[in-house]
Amino acid sequence: MTTDHLAHVYAQWPIDVTGAAGVHLHTRDGRRILDLYGGHAVAALGYSHPRWQAALEQQARSLLFQSNAVPLEIRSRAATRLAHFAGLGLETVFFVNTGAEANENALKLALRITGRRKVVAIEGSFHGRTAAAGAVTWGAAKKWYGFPQAPFDVEFLPRGDLDAVARVIGTDTAAVIAEPVQGVAGAVDLGQPFLAALRARCSETCAMLILDEVQCGMGRTGFPFAANMHGIAPDMLTTAKALGAGFPCSALLMADHVAAHLGIDDLGTTFGGGPIACALIEAVVDIIEPEGLLANVRTLAQQVRDTCVVGPVVATQGAGLLLGLRTSRPAKDVQRELLERDILAGTSADPHVVRILAPYVLESQHVEQLRDALASLPA
Ligand SMILES: Cc1ncc(COP(=O)(O)O)c(C=O)c1O
Repeated sequence: MTTDHLAHVYAQWPIDVTGAAGVHLHTRDGRRILDLYGGHAVAALGYSHPRWQAALEQQARSLLFQSNAVPLEIRSRAATRLAHFAGLGLETVFFVNTGAEANENALKLALRITGRRKVVAIEGSFHGRTAAAGAVTWGAAKKWYGFPQAPFDVEFLPRGDLDAVARVIGTDTAAVIAEPVQGVAGAVDLGQPFLAALRARCSETCAMLILDEVQCGMGRTGFPFAANMHGIAPDMLTTAKALGAGFPCSALLMADHVAAHLGIDDLGTTFGGGPIACALIEAVVDIIEPEGLLANVRTLAQQVRDTCVVGPVVATQGAGLLLGLRTSRPAKDVQRELLERDILAGTSADPHVVRILAPYVLESQHVEQLRDALASLPA
């Protein structure tokens, strides 16, 4: 029986959240839940970070909104900050609103610039629910895609299959799109050798390498982007989620040879690059760097790996605080049992992986709390 007017398309957890502070959610019945999931990797700074809140308040007071028809200093500053933070030689930034939209634009550019009609994606990938992003999402056609056909030809490459790289990517390939660390698949690091092989083959065939860092980017791996961690320079990179750390926004970063093809009216959006989003993107970079959050992510991720293989956890995978805890029992059961102990973690497409997407401001005591809770669960 429908109890409200919302579309019933989400399975929901049995918690009634009324507020949050730091790394904790507060519920109507007085619980304080350690949030190791951050709203699908969005709440990278936790909740109520004072500098994030100040940036939001200040920008809301000074200029709430103007579209891209009006040049704004804050928009230019945010693009410069983001390009410098990435340090990948991707000097042009196009701001949009969601991860799917950033991927949609990246794919469109690659197809248009190369004049080719095939895109290669990686098995296990998740790139979003729009027509193009869904077409390169593993399993979407069977589960929820809904469009009668993909807007281009798609071929999936098995993860880590170095032999398949040269066979599948050819001079008919417009783009290869890959999450360097797959999120929805269960925190699966594609690894340096495989990513380097994709980069080399794209260069050989003049296909574009698009790295989707919507989930694994903006510091989540303990590096600005997973591309930095693996020393891979893509032609385009997309990012979202932690980019605004709670304010919806996304970005497409491009190399000069891609941006050289852009003319007036080629891309567009009403909300993308709005002043509040840009003020928060600038704030996120300004917080991550001086507060040493990249190092904190690396340290605490190591603590999880070193101490949390207990109870039902048999191994860890992923990178930084995009971590998968491989479980001996169904991950859904372990997730439910953790929630009963006031710890929120996620699951993934892999039924035996509990997914950790904790805020970068996590502390050692929180990892200890996770370890103690896991240790109290049956193996
Ligand atoms: C790697 C990746 N790409 C794209 C998306 C889609 O992002 P959005 O839901 O903001 O459209 C997601 C969302 O989970 C994601 O994890």
